[in-house]
Amino acid sequence: MIRLSHVSRDFPRRGRALDDVTFSVEKGEFVFLTGHSGSGKSTTLRMLHMADRPTEGEVRVAGFSSKLTSDREIWKLRRRVGFVFQDFRLLPGRTARENVAFALEVTGTPRREIGPRTSRLLSQVGLSARTGALVEELSGGEQQRVSVARALANEPLVLLADEPTGNLDERSARGILELFRDLNASGMAVLMATHDLDLVRSISDVRTLELSGGRLVFDSGA
Ligand SMILES: Nc1ncnc2c1ncn2[C@@H]1O[C@H](COP(=O)(O)OP(=O)(O)OP(=O)(O)O)[C@@H](O)[C@H]1O
Ligand SMILES: [Mg+2]
Repeated sequence: MIRLSHVSRDFPRRGRALDDVTFSVEKGEFVFLTGHSGSGKSTTLRMLHMADRPTEGEVRVAGFSSKLTSDREIWKLRRRVGFVFQDFRLLPGRTARENVAFALEVTGTPRREIGPRTSRLLSQVGLSARTGALVEELSGGEQQRVSVARALANEPLVLLADEPTGNLDERSARGILELFRDLNASGMAVLMATHDLDLVRSISDVRTLELSGGRLVFDSGA
């Protein structure tokens, strides 16, 4: 589902931010990507989303290769991969419902399907009661649920999340993690970057990868 082969990423003036990273995540796996600030977690996830490209090596995700997928084709990849950010990135001034419906509209979902599918997605993340609320009226945890519903809109095979609980209190953070676990139980691969080790340790049967200085230094599943 995800494979990084000898991936390095150099930035001008910064030097090597990722250094020869190799790992894979299989269908249906749940994996935490951990490491200190600056260790390369976000850079790794950006490669998987093809928002950035390796300087060396190859990234494959959901059948798309960083070597073969042009920038013009990235939208195809993004229909197979859901992405959740720390800062939610919802459309302001719009309702929960509009935010999710928009994701379905831009990928050409037939009009009559958008309403029912939006309702189903918001119910899946536990937000049926708040569908008409504006983004600004929602708590952080609720906003993150909207962004998860949006990420699920196109039934992705993989969910990538970069510090999805970073702006949430402990209780909301656990709620989001539980939601990810449920999604994973229904077959979706999940790769979640976090530096919240308490959250990581709260779950015993999950594979953990650790980056340090751009290198993969630990893989509990290897
Ligand atoms: N566009 C860029 N230009 C230059 N350097 C960059 C760029 N993006 C990331 N870096 C550098 O790459 C290194 C890894 O950054 P990255 O954001 O991947 O770390 P992180 O593990 O996600 O950290 P955090 O826990 O703080 O989010 C850092 O030293 C960062 O400054
Ligand atoms: Mg980061």
